[in-house]
Amino acid sequence: MSASLATERGDSYGGAPVMTSRQAAQAPYRHFTLEPASPLVGAFISGIDVSQPLSAVIHAELERALAEYGVIFLRDQTLTPEQHIAFAQYFGEIDVNRFFKPVDQYPQIAEVRKEPDQKANIGGGWHTDHSYDQIPAKASLLYAREVPRIGGDTLFASTVAAYDALSPGLQQTLAGLRAAHSSRHVFGHGSLQRTQTDLPGRVLNPDLATQDAVHPVLFTHPETGRRAIYVNPGFTVRFEGWTAQESQSLLAFLYEHVKRPEFSTRFAWQAKSLAMWDNRTTWHFAINDYSGERRLLHRITVRSNTHSA
Ligand code: SIN
Repeated sequence: MSASLATERGDSYGGAPVMTSRQAAQAPYRHFTLEPASPLVGAFISGIDVSQPLSAVIHAELERALAEYGVIFLRDQTLTPEQHIAFAQYFGEIDVNRFFKPVDQYPQIAEVRKEPDQKANIGGGWHTDHSYDQIPAKASLLYAREVPRIGGDTLFASTVAAYDALSPGLQQTLAGLRAAHSSRHVFGHGSLQRTQTDLPGRVLNPDLATQDAVHPVLFTHPETGRRAIYVNPGFTVRFEGWTAQESQSLLAFLYEHVKRPEFSTRFAWQAKSLAMWDNRTTWHFAINDYSGERRLLHRITVRSNTHSA
């Protein structure tokens, strides 16, 4: 590739895109402090207490931060389940998870729990939540109640930054494709996590794992106008009109590409940390490196109004 082409495009495909999340941001943030967690994805927000009702301006800035950075992290938030639910509802209608054991008396909250004697964890592979739904989830809000002394971090990858770094030719090809997603192989009878892990008590309702959905491979964010790659290793099964075998090579290429370290950030949890991510523009991966310790988080997922491409 010539140097002039790299300059013209604002990136060097095959290398890291030049435009960072901060450069893509439309305006400064006035109602809280925001510090990027890495050049291309994630931001730390401080100076607000989300247990309290949000003003319209703070809510609007949080929505913008989520859109621009893909995932936002807030520390030292003291939230009851009711306050967690109330905060989530500013961002959309709650999408009750069918498979994870809910928190007692709060069906809206899924429990992400690993006990000291357990081996497998929930979310221990790259995925985005609920892509098998007809209208995929907008965001998830994960709140840490108990964390290991060390370990149990979560990785987040930007599928926007990954899209930006593709060649124009592949971007154009992806724009013409749709992909099939399913819950069956992950949560259904006979799925690996039901038959080969110690998760069954935490992952319920195999009979409900009947979701199949087809979505455009590119998602265009309604607020930023930026495009994201919308396939993921957890739930995507093939391209529409292609066999699973035919789809394998291109999906494998895209998965390896999104996993490149420059598109990711790693969040080290503390008790009372809250992470909120946009499921349409990020993937996440819960690292399972804390055997013998408990990790307990509460997750709420909210719906999007539309899924546009
Ligand atoms: C999830 O996949 O939603 C859980 C992520 C985590 O536990 O860090």
